[in-house]
Parts: sequence; C-alpha cells; structure tokens
Amino acid sequence: MTIDIKKNVQWCGKIDWELRNFHGEELSTPRGSSYNSYLIRDEKNVIIDTVHGAFADEYIEQLQRMIDLNEISYVVVNHAEPDHSGALPKLMEHCKNATIICTNAGMKSIKGYYHKDWKMMPVKTGDIVKIGTRNLVFVEMAMIHWPDSMMTYLTNDNILFSNDAFGQHYANAKMFSSKSDKAVLLDEALQYYANIVAPYSQKVAKKIAEILTLSLPIDYICPSHGVMWDENITEIVELYDKWAKSYLEDKVTIIYDSMYQSTRKMAEAIAEGIADILPDFELNIYNAAKTEKSRIVTEIFASKLVLAGSPTVHNGVLSSVAAVLGEIAGFGLKGKKAASFGSYGWSPVGIKILNEKFEKAGFELINEGAKALWNPDDDVLAEMREYGRNLAENIK
Ligand code: FEO
Repeated sequence: MTIDIKKNVQWCGKIDWELRNFHGEELSTPRGSSYNSYLIRDEKNVIIDTVHGAFADEYIEQLQRMIDLNEISYVVVNHAEPDHSGALPKLMEHCKNATIICTNAGMKSIKGYYHKDWKMMPVKTGDIVKIGTRNLVFVEMAMIHWPDSMMTYLTNDNILFSNDAFGQHYANAKMFSSKSDKAVLLDEALQYYANIVAPYSQKVAKKIAEILTLSLPIDYICPSHGVMWDENITEIVELYDKWAKSYLEDKVTIIYDSMYQSTRKMAEAIAEGIADILPDFELNIYNAAKTEKSRIVTEIFASKLVLAGSPTVHNGVLSSVAAVLGEIAGFGLKGKKAASFGSYGWSPVGIKILNEKFEKAGFELINEGAKALWNPDDDVLAEMREYGRNLAENIK
C-alpha cells in the first residue's frame, strides 16, 4: 500500500494492524500502529525513515515496485530506534548509491545497532540539502526523545517529516487526520505524548518555540507513526505546546489494587466524596492490575489530583500500583496533587510507601493518607467519603 501526499511525495510505510505492545511489552497499543516511511522523487530521490525490521522484506518489495532503488541518493534517518531503522540494513543492500543523512548522534546510534560502514552525512539544525527543485532542511530534536532525533522539512511542498513527534500508535487505513475520527485521533495522540514524549516536555516547549521562529509554512506534518496531519496543522502543534507545559485538566484519577476488596471499597467511597464537591470534574477509578498501564499513565498525565491505594502486603504495596508510580517517577510531572489510601491488618506502612513514590514523582501530597484496619465498615466508609470531600476542597 502506498499513498500520494503531494506530486512526487508518497507514503511507503507499513501499517501494523496486529501490534498490541510497544517498547517490548512496556506500552499498550490497542489500536495497532504504523511505521511511516516516505519517498520523495526529484533530481535526487530520497527515502525518509524505514520500517520495523519484521516488515523489511515486504517494505523493500513495495519500494522496488515504486522505484529503482539504485536511483535513491539519500536515506534520511531522522531517528535510529529500530522501529524506524529496522529495515535499514536490507534497504542499504539495495540502495547502492545512497548516503545516509542523520545527526551526529544518529551516526553513533546507527553504528551501534548495525555495525556497518555505510556512507553517512551528518547534519545539524538549519543545514540544507538541495535535491533538485526542492530542498531538505533539518531541525535537530535532541532528547525528543533520543539524542539522535531530528525532523526534516521539505521546501515548496511544505511538509514537515516530524518522526516520533506528533505521532500516534493508531493503525488507520485512511492515514490522514482529515479522514480520521477526531476524538480517537486526539486521544491516541495524547496517549502517545503522555507515555513517550512527556519525560522530555521542557525540551518540547522550547523546540516548538524554535520551530515557530523559523516561520516555515507547513501544509502537512508527516510523523513516523499513525496518521498524517493534513488540516488545521496548528491544532496539534498548539496541543503539544499545551501538553508540554504542566498540563492539567479538570480530572481526578484514582488507581488502586485490592486483595480482599477492602481497598476497593475505600476507593469507591473516596470517589463518592470527591464527586460530591467536584461534580463537573471527570473522575476515573482504575484497578491497576486490570487496566492497561499506558491508559492509566495517560489519565494521570492529564489529572489535577491523583490517588493511589493499596493494602499493605509484605511490608510493601501491591506491585501493579507500585509499577504505575514507578513508571511516572522520571516524567518530571508538575503541578499535580496526590494522596494515598489503603487497608491493613497489623502494619499500615502501605500509605507511607505510596507517599514516598508520589513525592519522588514530583507530586504535592495533600495529607498523610487514609488507612482502614481490616475490612472497612459503614462508619469507616463514611470517613472515606469525608476524606474524599476534603481532598476535593483542596483542589477546588
Ligand atoms: Fe518510534 Fe522513538 O521510535
């Protein structure tokens, strides 16, 4: 499958309908994904990024139906993570006359993965490569999200090949934002940002400001995953700018895990109290052991208040809740408040452990947490409702 974007610019990637996990088993991709590669034809022909190595053979066969690969002058590697460079070794076997264009850091990561002496041309922000009637302009994006990351801009056609930025893990045969379900698309874009880009938000805000100062006209943003943005381009750029700046919605997220339902009952009672005071806030409760971690991380990313609950077990907390708080510890999230809760039998250390994890992740703790001995009765559940009301008053 290929898709015409503009005259002499085609999408030539691979939609991965089966993908359900990414970064090993770390991220959930319930809607699949795509590995976007692009062919630009001019006096010098260019391929922008490749596909996952699992699809290398069919990718090469598809390209061979499109063009004689001996006529490829440049292969731009915007980022060498193997989901985009996996097919590079097979591609370079066929592109005998091609030079790889990448950042200096890209030269190291490409060599580190593939140990080949391909011809490479390092570029930095503002460098221009003339390919005929049009130019390629490069913008480094170090640490968004690897040291080697960069974007490539195609003049005249005004296309920004943004690599991972503005991507979504969203398999969609229509492949353009204008033809996609808007709510699904923006949800997938947010989920992608929250789970992959958010740890680098400070750099994202600066980079967007830098790109805007270049005043490049942009008709299309073509990322390396998911659909291409072909209308209201500023909307996704503005969303990225918003997400990069301590993003908070009127939203509360409660995560918990439970052994014998005591902590679950606490979660639900606390939620009732919060809803009494904040009826217009979105309020979600997730059992962390039964919910995709990527979905929970996305909800936390957008929440003003996050609660975590676990019974005390083996002088610790249940692993599903610990895993979520461990995942977000390095995200540098700002402006969010938090509180803990949990049942116990003889040692109420669980909430202390949860509090430590929240503090390590940069959350402001509202209080020391709520605990319930054994199985909470009606009086204790009434206290939990009051606890929820007090938390809600704090963020009202
Ligand atoms: Fe889609 Fe960072 O690779």
